[in-house]
Amino acid sequence: MTFNALKEKGIPVEKQLKSWHDIVKRPYKRMDVDCYTRTRQILMNGIETEAWGFKHCFARKCEDNDLKMLLAHIRRIEDMQQTTVNWLSPVNQTVLDTTLGYEQVAVDLTAWLAQNEPDDYVKETFDFGLLEDFDHLYRYAQWAYMYEGNNPDDILQGMTDVVIGRPTQNHHNDNTIRLRKHYDKNTASPQTKVNILTLVSGEQQTHNYYAEHGFMYGNDDLKKTYAEICDVEEEHVTMYESLIDPTETPFEKWLVHEFTEVCNYYNCYVDEVDKRIKLIWEEMLAMEIGHLHAAAEVFKKYENRDPEEIIGTDIVLPCHFESQKSYVTNILENETGKRLDKNGEYTFIDKLPDNWPSYDAQKIINGKGAPTEKTIRLSCASIGRDIVCADKKLVKKQPELLEKGLEHKAQAPDTVTLAEYEKITETDIYDFEEE
Ligand SMILES: [Fe+2]
Ligand SMILES: [Fe+2]
Ligand SMILES: [Fe+2]
Ligand SMILES: [Fe+2]
Repeated sequence: MTFNALKEKGIPVEKQLKSWHDIVKRPYKRMDVDCYTRTRQILMNGIETEAWGFKHCFARKCEDNDLKMLLAHIRRIEDMQQTTVNWLSPVNQTVLDTTLGYEQVAVDLTAWLAQNEPDDYVKETFDFGLLEDFDHLYRYAQWAYMYEGNNPDDILQGMTDVVIGRPTQNHHNDNTIRLRKHYDKNTASPQTKVNILTLVSGEQQTHNYYAEHGFMYGNDDLKKTYAEICDVEEEHVTMYESLIDPTETPFEKWLVHEFTEVCNYYNCYVDEVDKRIKLIWEEMLAMEIGHLHAAAEVFKKYENRDPEEIIGTDIVLPCHFESQKSYVTNILENETGKRLDKNGEYTFIDKLPDNWPSYDAQKIINGKGAPTEKTIRLSCASIGRDIVCADKKLVKKQPELLEKGLEHKAQAPDTVTLAEYEKITETDIYDFEEE
């Protein structure tokens, strides 16, 4: 496969304005849509939001009027693209449905990126974050059932497992130890740059979605669950964005942003199974090639360098969605006890020093109980166990996974204990088909 985006024609930026009629498209259908069409739509919304936000930050530091005008024009197009993509969501897809979709994006996207990441340290960071979003999916799945009576698999379609991961109460760190070591802009591959920016965009969008929607449920425990997980997504944005070399110039960053959009739409286009939505991805790809040409011209003019030095000559595939169950299970069984250390490296629970900075944060944050623990207690009160969607063998391993993944210090007072998980495991899995 060779696709040199800089050599493709695309749609010139001056021909990209559209009418409202063409911007707002018919939504997909909640029950008929392929789950990975939904994950593509969720991710591309996040990619567009980042493209828009980045250009505002750039413009605020920019004195050159010609450049400011070009940014203003393209930024408006990014915003229109965001509307088109985000508003493909149907009105009867509830906030919790969409939330399951967001965590499915996080799990299956991060697993894909980890397996296609040339830098071992970046890969390790992806695997680390993966187990946290995996646990978020498990916590929200309880609410999809308890609050809306839905089977999480209505949304996940059996592609992504729902069992305990690294317990969410242990995702709360001193935010300064989330900071990782950044790549070197001169030696990192274009794929590494695109992979990271794709994930940063996705995590940022997830944070924003929870921040903007968590209050839409009246139930206090559900609201607090959103607040708790929203805060973890802030940690995730902090963690992934810190992998980016801060010495990249704004021109270089712009180029990487447009290239990331090109690669993601290209990947959506080649994978899409919905004919109508495939046409949308195709048009967006052509528009992004136009943006890339504009950014490349600016890069050549202001930096006097060849854009291919930064983005190479071929496309990368940053968002191929497919079931990642076996990859995720392997990471889950081996790395749930992994933790961040102060030096930007990783360690395991049994090696944590007494003065590990996150203990202080956890003591305060979890001090009056963790909503994500109470979530499981409420499920147990209702149906005698938690909601899970996975192979029975994996479900049986939940106590073992908890034992490996849960810190003993600074535990929330309402933590569901190992003995309780052992009891849960003896209860039959809740069967949605039987009701
Ligand atoms: Fe865009
Ligand atoms: Fe998450
Ligand atoms: Fe996340
Ligand atoms: Fe763009």
